Amino acid sequence: MGKDVIIACDFASKEEVLSFLDKFQGKKPYVKIGMELFYAAGPEIVREIKTRGHKIFLDLKLHDIPNTVKKAMHVLSSLDVDMCNLHASGTVAMMEAALEGLVRPDGTRPLLIAVTQLTSTSQERMESDLLIEKPLDQVVLHYASCAKKAGLDGVVCSPLEAGTVHANCGKEFLTVTPGVRFADGDVGDQVRVTTPAKAKEIGSDYIVVGRPITAAADPVAAYMRCVSEFCD
Ligand code: C5P
Repeated sequence: MGKDVIIACDFASKEEVLSFLDKFQGKKPYVKIGMELFYAAGPEIVREIKTRGHKIFLDLKLHDIPNTVKKAMHVLSSLDVDMCNLHASGTVAMMEAALEGLVRPDGTRPLLIAVTQLTSTSQERMESDLLIEKPLDQVVLHYASCAKKAGLDGVVCSPLEAGTVHANCGKEFLTVTPGVRFADGDVGDQVRVTTPAKAKEIGSDYIVVGRPITAAADPVAAYMRCVSEFCD
């Protein structure tokens, strides 16, 4: 599986995201559409970006009873997205149901990856709010192995965790990793960050990069810099 850079298109409207993508003349970067844009612009924005020739990771992080998630995934796969996700904490049964829902009439389906523990969850919060008392890195690996058991394709995790996830779940089990910054760039609100080159070295399969590209003076140059550090 080839490595790729996914641009997190965290924009609030259709106009903003389309004018951003217009800058990429002749290039078709892999795009992540998250809750903000999807809830603002609806399924139509997914169809429109797909029609323009981009691959799409639809990052809606589903979590509900298995039957509801299965039916929701069925709707999402009909949008012809390339990757979507859910919370591993919804249980193996929910993840299995999600996979079933994703299969299209022609037998194809988008990749399905699981969020383990959100990077915004600290050890302290996990213990106090979720009553999970194991070490966070162990919880992440356990959730990743549950995702693998359910038949999923991989997990969203920190690039710093990509190596241990591969060691535990196999080389083919995908690691999709946000929290990427250029060595000379702003960290912003991300805490555990690494550079595209380091993410490659640790073994990430896809890096998800938002503001270092979307807020750059020259977004296309920033994207190309990520590609050359991570993919080449
Ligand atoms: O702008 P930045 O590069 O920080 O964007 C990272 C993207 O990855 C955002 O869309 C954020 O919501 C998402 N993400 C994350 N950490 C996670 C899961 C998703 O930063 N654990």
